[in-house]
Amino acid sequence: MKKIITLAACFIAGILSYAQNDIASKAKALLAKMTLQEKIGQLNLIIPGGAAVTGSVVSNDVENKIRQGKVGGLFGITSPEKIRKVQDMAVKESRLHIPLIFGLDVIHGHKTIFPIPLGLSASWDMGLIEQSAHIAAKEATADGLNWAFSPMVDIARDPRWGRISEGSGEDPYLGGEIAKAMVRGYQGKDMTKQDALMACVKHFALYGGAEAGREYNTVDMSRIKMYEYYLPPYKAAVDAGAGSIMSSFNEIDGVPATGNKWLLTDLLRKEWGFKGFVVSDYTSLNEMTNHGVGDLQTVAAQALKAGLDMDMVGEGFLTTIEKSLKEGRVTVADIDRACLRILEAKYKLGLFDNPYKSIDETRPAKDILTAENRAAARKIAAHSMVLLKNQNQLLPLKKSGTIALVGPLADNKRNMLGTWVVAGDWNKSVSVLEGVKNVAPGINVLTAKGANITDDHFFASRANALGEEVTFDSRTPQAMIDEAVSVAAKSDVVVAVVGEAADMSGESASRADISLPESQLNLLKALKRTGKPLVVVLINGRPLTLVWENNNADAMLEAWAPGTEAGNAIADVLFGVYNPSGKLSATFPRSVGQIPIYYNHKNTGRPFDGKGFPKFKSNYLDESNDPLYPFGYGLSYTNFEYSPVMLSNASPKGDTKITATVTVTNDGKYAGEEVVQLYITDPVASVTRAVKDLKGFQKIALQPGESKEVSFTIGTEQLSFFNSDLKKVWEPGKFIVHIGTSSSNVKSAELNWSR
Ligand code: NOJ
Repeated sequence: MKKIITLAACFIAGILSYAQNDIASKAKALLAKMTLQEKIGQLNLIIPGGAAVTGSVVSNDVENKIRQGKVGGLFGITSPEKIRKVQDMAVKESRLHIPLIFGLDVIHGHKTIFPIPLGLSASWDMGLIEQSAHIAAKEATADGLNWAFSPMVDIARDPRWGRISEGSGEDPYLGGEIAKAMVRGYQGKDMTKQDALMACVKHFALYGGAEAGREYNTVDMSRIKMYEYYLPPYKAAVDAGAGSIMSSFNEIDGVPATGNKWLLTDLLRKEWGFKGFVVSDYTSLNEMTNHGVGDLQTVAAQALKAGLDMDMVGEGFLTTIEKSLKEGRVTVADIDRACLRILEAKYKLGLFDNPYKSIDETRPAKDILTAENRAAARKIAAHSMVLLKNQNQLLPLKKSGTIALVGPLADNKRNMLGTWVVAGDWNKSVSVLEGVKNVAPGINVLTAKGANITDDHFFASRANALGEEVTFDSRTPQAMIDEAVSVAAKSDVVVAVVGEAADMSGESASRADISLPESQLNLLKALKRTGKPLVVVLINGRPLTLVWENNNADAMLEAWAPGTEAGNAIADVLFGVYNPSGKLSATFPRSVGQIPIYYNHKNTGRPFDGKGFPKFKSNYLDESNDPLYPFGYGLSYTNFEYSPVMLSNASPKGDTKITATVTVTNDGKYAGEEVVQLYITDPVASVTRAVKDLKGFQKIALQPGESKEVSFTIGTEQLSFFNSDLKKVWEPGKFIVHIGTSSSNVKSAELNWSR
């Protein structure tokens, strides 16, 4: 059997390498026919005016450039009609008829919008995450596209950074698994298929490490930290076959990523064997001049030599590379290398065989925003929600009686989709009010806005840069609160839907204060004073500081920005149609002063055990070290009991494998799903290690009273780490295996692994 599998694997590998060679030779043959200008043209990615513009510069003279072969790809436009028109220009009117590649920021869905990526990651459900990417690919290709600027796999440990919403949180293992699932979902097994979208992994690299969580800020970190915590998700996406990578805005070791040879060639190509192409971020090539490493011609030459293949929007390659060639600053081989990679990508997508492969005017009506896609969005959104608190089992709510549904996000469609929904239409989203009426039609719902998202006009004007997400009621804040309080007084339970406007997180949306805006906190305080049971539903794009809310609400549900089916999914969870199973993928701090705060921190030389205030320990005078909610945390309407951890062998030797097993029992009243998490501690090593690291997880479903054994295989791979030579090694000795329901609630067993 093993032999047959090996033979089959060799056969498939043979076919793949044959296909790769075939593509390479076709691309070379085409390259041989190209003029220098045409080659440089392929390196140029533009965004026409009138498109979904996602940066501060727009390309000009687009049509002529396409006809002259000065464009390799285009982004920001959608619909088969528009894309056909542009593809016609390239294929019918340019000298060599080279098709264009069409990209877009398809981030968490195309037109059927799924939860923001941070929310998706909280599902810990790789099947559903892959499905969301596959549906996005189907819709985006139906809209004429073939390239998605996703997945974003930047590890983030700082919730002040607005783009934490676009990633999968703080953990490299979880982030890596999600990166793979997204690439599979977009690209499928064969990128020539009509519904396959080429993935673009971003932002390479370490963009989430921006100092102080301030957007586009400097990144400076040790190699060990990079290799151990920040690079693995990009590597996982490369291993999964991602077709392209986007360089990041930040610098690494003092060299901007877009022109960083160590990053783009030594690490990405030589160490990781990446075969696709690298595109810059929006004008990040030009912005190297602001970083202070030279003028445009200098940085363009540097970036090309470093391994950048395609230049997004800024036309630094188009306008300077020919001159640099004449001056000997770049070689023809540098240009050919980049051009070949882009041609190869177009071959991989099947665009030379059929440049119109995803352009079919009948597809949008059949494939976009279908009932099936919306049903998947509803399910996936419900699976991404995290139950943060549920005192006295207040949730699930009964589908009878009267509820007060209040808060600025309760009867609000505008802010349900979250950030980065270039093609999404918020008018198509379901508000929480609509969802509650759909799911619990027999209930009496009283509503009141209660507060503006914020009363701070300065903050609102910035958050509204992309549209009017924060609106101001004509009434005074007190009048709005009074109305909400009177509605609450007539109800059995209060559900307050509060949080952030969609673009209070996302790109260029860093916050120095990540608490609930004061207007909404005042509303919650007034509601609390009514003495009615208080459920807080949070719509937001990042971990928030929620100490008052946690101390005072009876129940809290983190719903993120749930997407098109927001209201239905929230109501499904509130009324127990779906028992929540999400777990946080990013730590929620108690206060901003604790940031960066993450579960896989180091022990330090003076660790604090959390008891009292011992002087000269690693702690704060005025704050606890503990987060409000740890990584991996999330409650259920039922209760899961964990048995002690059983090891198949507590003293393994050498390169062997053992299993660690727990029995998980649902001893509550509801059927539910649980994410069983495996962590390992390496207490003594040649370099300092984190207090624990996630090494595996399984999502299981249990009926009330049911038990399941959950086993994890542990080998030396799970013990390995990067040592001070950046070699991945394992060192013999003691390890602690933890299995549990969150990073801070585990059962543990010790083992001794010898050589
Ligand atoms: C800038 C963003 O950083 C990136 O994520 C996005 O894909 C590009 N703009 C294109 O819109």
